Amino acid sequence: MKKIVVFSGAGISAESGLKTFRDNNGLWENYKIMDVATPEAWEKQPQTVLEFYNLRRKQVVDALPNSAHFCLAELEAFFNVQIITQNIDDLHERAGSSNVLHLHGEILKSRSTKTGAIQKINGAMLNLGDLCSKNSQLRPDVVWFGEAVPNMLLAEELCKDADILIIVGTSLAVYPAANIIDYIPEKCSTYLVDPNKIDLNNMKNLTVINKKASIGIPILAKILVDK
Ligand code: APR
Repeated sequence: MKKIVVFSGAGISAESGLKTFRDNNGLWENYKIMDVATPEAWEKQPQTVLEFYNLRRKQVVDALPNSAHFCLAELEAFFNVQIITQNIDDLHERAGSSNVLHLHGEILKSRSTKTGAIQKINGAMLNLGDLCSKNSQLRPDVVWFGEAVPNMLLAEELCKDADILIIVGTSLAVYPAANIIDYIPEKCSTYLVDPNKIDLNNMKNLTVINKKASIGIPILAKILVDK
């Protein structure tokens, strides 16, 4: 079976009702992203940070996977599919994808600020005073701007034997995440699915499908399966 690596971003969940980051000029439900998604924000106003992620967590729980998520899961019948996502929602998993690696964490999990221990909290709200077993404050298991991306090396390794790369719903504006596309082999065929223009000028073997994910991914899946 050929190996497909899918590199996804907020755009694949846009049609599930979850806002992207750069389509709302850095605003998200009237929060400035940089005021709530950084270690400095956590130091200064932890309850505001917790409220921001509580709101996003509720929206993730209420959201449903869309046809793009389901179509990628169905590709597992024909290919070895590895999802590498920047998204903190669980829509790929809920659509049935078996191999999903999150680069920026998972909003349905909490992390101890003392031990780093991670726990599934699903839709539960996190507030000041919610402590881990070692009595330290719990935070969302999300990678904030300026923090290390623990799964980066694993993501780079997963790209090295890809036969096909699908880039969907990401502006490729955030590093080091966007660097993973540099780790695919020379011979790899790359497909970009995005309704807007994304600059991938020096990308070899590139096919662009300028469509929303719910339309573009099914079109691409048919191309790949029929090949
Ligand atoms: N289908 C496909 N792509 C879409 C759709 C759609 N329906 N709607 C928007 N897009 C595209 C936009 O054109 C853009 O290229 O999705 C991309 C969204 O880009 P961003 O908002 O920058 O999201 P993303 O690339 O995932 O951001 C990366 O930045 O804020 C941090 O940690 C956060 O993981 C996030 C990272």
